[in-house]
Amino acid sequence: MNQLSSPVSGLLELRVSAAAPAAERVRELVLEPVAGSLPSYAPGAHVEITLPDGDTRPYSLIDLEGRTSAPAHYRLGVLLEAESKGGSRYMHALSVGDRVTASAPKNDFALADSEAPALLIAGGIGVTPIISMAGALKAVGRPYRLVYAAQDAGRMAFREALEAEHGEALALHFDDRAGGPLPLKPLIESAAPGAHLYVCGPRAMIEAARAAAEAAGFAPERIHFELFEKAAPQADDQPFEVELASSGQVFTIPPGRSIIEVLEESGIDLMYDCQRGDCGICQTDVLEGEPDHRDVVLSQAERDSGKVMQICVSRAKSARLKLDL
Ligand code: FES
Repeated sequence: MNQLSSPVSGLLELRVSAAAPAAERVRELVLEPVAGSLPSYAPGAHVEITLPDGDTRPYSLIDLEGRTSAPAHYRLGVLLEAESKGGSRYMHALSVGDRVTASAPKNDFALADSEAPALLIAGGIGVTPIISMAGALKAVGRPYRLVYAAQDAGRMAFREALEAEHGEALALHFDDRAGGPLPLKPLIESAAPGAHLYVCGPRAMIEAARAAAEAAGFAPERIHFELFEKAAPQADDQPFEVELASSGQVFTIPPGRSIIEVLEESGIDLMYDCQRGDCGICQTDVLEGEPDHRDVVLSQAERDSGKVMQICVSRAKSARLKLDL
C-alpha cells in the first residue's frame, strides 16, 4: 500500500490537555506530547488521528496567529458528523488526560510561495486550516481577505477569536440571515488582481468556487482547495466492473465501496492519499467505459473528456470501466 499520508517515521503519542465546545456540534481539542516535542508544520497542515479500530481521520491544525514552528501543542476543531462512522464520535468522547496517536503533520493545502494577495474562503468546519493560513498571512504582512460562512451563528466556531484577530479583514456570512449560501461569484470576481484563492468547506462550496474562479480567469495555480467531506454514496448507485488493462483481471465494485478499496483488498498496489477526491493523487486513465465523476479536482474539460478519473470516489455510468492499471 502506497498511501502517501502514512507518516514516514513513527507516530506521535499525544495527550488531551484541554477540551471545550467551540460551537454547536464542534469541539476544540488541545493535544500535547506525552514526551518530547512536537514537529513544526506549515499553515494548512493536518494530522491523522488513529481511531480504536485502526482507521484514521484527518484533522487540520489550528493556530490563530499562524505560529506553526516548534508548537507546544496541536489544536483541533472537530465537527460531530450527523452520520459519524466513528471518527468524530470518538473525538467528541475524549476527555482531558486521554491519549491518542497521530501521524506527523502533512500538508495538502499549503499557502503558495507568493507575495500576491490571498482570498481565503471557509465554510463551516472548513475554517480550521484557514485559521492558521490567515494568521500566517497577517504575521508576514501579506494582503489577505478572510470570508467565513456558516449556516447560522450557533454553528460558527472560533468566531470571537477570528473577529479579534482579523478585524476588517474578516467578513462573516450566515446562511439563515442572508436567506441563502455565500454568493461566491461576485466575491471571487471582485478579488484583488493576481490574488490566490483558498477554499475549504463542503463539496458544493468548493465546486461553486472553482467554477467561479475559472470563469473569472484565475489560472489553475491560483486556485487552492481542500474538501472537508467524503463523497456520499447515492441512493441509486449500482455495482459496476473494473478491468485492469495490465492483467485483464476484472473486479466488481459494489455500491458503498470505492475502486481503491476493492482493488487494494485484492493486493493491487495503488497510489492514493486523501480518498475524498480533492488531491489528485489517485488519478487514473480510463481506456474504455464512462466514468461517473464524484471528485472536485478535475476540471470540467477533463470530466467531459472521460479519459481520466479519481478512483477513490468516482464510479461508472457504464457497466464496465477499463482502467490503465
Ligand atoms: S486519493 Fe485524493 S483524489 Fe483520490
